[in-house]
Amino acid sequence: MTEETRKQRLERPLSPYMIGSYYKPQLSSMLSIAHRASGVFLSIFGATLMVYWLVALSQGPVAYHEALMLLSAWPAKVLLGLLCFAIYYHSLNGIRHLIWDTGRMLEIKQANLAAIIVLIASSTAAIVTVLIVGGWL
Ligand code: HEM
Repeated sequence: MTEETRKQRLERPLSPYMIGSYYKPQLSSMLSIAHRASGVFLSIFGATLMVYWLVALSQGPVAYHEALMLLSAWPAKVLLGLLCFAIYYHSLNGIRHLIWDTGRMLEIKQANLAAIIVLIASSTAAIVTVLIVGGWL
């Protein structure tokens, strides 16, 4: 490759990158990223926590009591609260994706309305769950 070609290749325009000032964030793209993030978050932390809880349960009352003590510390409570929101959000937004797969709700206005419903419903459900589990409701 000549020096001229190399220079031309380096200077050629790049396709717009999603993160940064080149791309205007939209509700649909932001929720799409959040859907993937919540899926990965649930896969890593949700699955680990579930396995930890089940192993502790299988090890008898002492181990189970220790696990409960650990899970009632505030960092664990914050994690459980976030997991709670993630599962509601991911499930409701997953239903939105499945509706799209049937060819419905694909117009921008409909997709945005469904996005707002998903955000409000998942936040409300997570807050109500945390309040009930925490004994405030
Ligand atoms: C704890 C349970 C769940 C876990 C760990 C999980 C995890 C994941 C992960 C890792 C992805 C891939 C994300 C990506 O690469 O973009 C995904 C996608 C998806 N999930 Fe879940 N998920 C769970 C529950 C659910 C539920 C209950 C629903 C529906 C009611 C759902 C619907 C979907 C759909 C439709 C997609 C594909 C979205 C697309 O087309 O890009 N998931 N999930």
